[in-house]
Amino acid sequence: MANAYYSLGDERGARVRDLFSRIAGRYDLINDIQSLGLHRLWKSRLIELAQIVHGTRVLDVCSGTGDLALAMWKEGVEVTGVDFCAPMLKVASDRSSAAARGGHQVRFAQADALNLPFADNSFDVVTVGYGLRNLANLDRALAELLRVLRAGGRLCVLDFGKPESASWRVCYETYLACVVPIFGWVFVGDPAAYAYILESLKHYPGQRGVDEKLRCLGCQRTRVVNFLGGAMSLNLAETPPKSPDSSFETTLKPSFQSVSGCDSQD
Ligand SMILES: C[S@@+](CC[C@H](N)C(=O)[O-])C[C@H]1O[C@@H](n2cnc3c(N)ncnc32)[C@H](O)[C@@H]1O
Repeated sequence: MANAYYSLGDERGARVRDLFSRIAGRYDLINDIQSLGLHRLWKSRLIELAQIVHGTRVLDVCSGTGDLALAMWKEGVEVTGVDFCAPMLKVASDRSSAAARGGHQVRFAQADALNLPFADNSFDVVTVGYGLRNLANLDRALAELLRVLRAGGRLCVLDFGKPESASWRVCYETYLACVVPIFGWVFVGDPAAYAYILESLKHYPGQRGVDEKLRCLGCQRTRVVNFLGGAMSLNLAETPPKSPDSSFETTLKPSFQSVSGCDSQD
């Protein structure tokens, strides 16, 4: 059966925005329950591997209720969080104000990950937690994330993964298909909102596919870190050298297209 929040093409973004607008108030609670709190450990590992130090300029894309952005801000770095869903950002900025108690806060802004309102090379680190799988055009999104990173900057992506073990994959997909929608039903009265996770994962290339795309885009030191046998995973990559007078897309497009197996999806 088709999922109400998943669609291909132009409508995809609007449906995803509706979904997160609907669940924003309960998002953090359901995250803790469905992962038994483990998402906090995976996010901590991402932050560790992002190697942020004082002065690192960080952009957290698909920031949602701000978990990653706030955790990195607590490490003392300058963080900007962007998301296209106003109710999710409202939760994030309330959390940020409470944590800052009048002091310096995370800067949250409403923006589409496919069209970021930042100049090329603006950030040292870009993080994305559980966001990449939701984007309507993965190739365009990756190019946009790499565009705003400086050469040698780090991209760190955390998302649901695709386990290589067939038996483990069946167990995990059964959990996503049968148990997780119950949380949606109980907490937001909408099982489809959480059945969406499995639907979006089916259309996502998973950690190996994302790694391959990043390598095709010229990224260096790409790495996959799996958790729970690949049910969750991190994709890490460093931006390739860029020519000073051209955008990432124009710099890389020719070689990107010439590498076999690296065709763009759009
Ligand atoms: C699953 S939540 C992740 C929130 C947070 N990063 C975390 O790790 O808990 C995905 C977020 O991606 C946002 N999102 C999806 N598509 C987007 C897009 N095209 N541009 C900006 N944000 C987007 C949604 O609004 C939602 O807040």
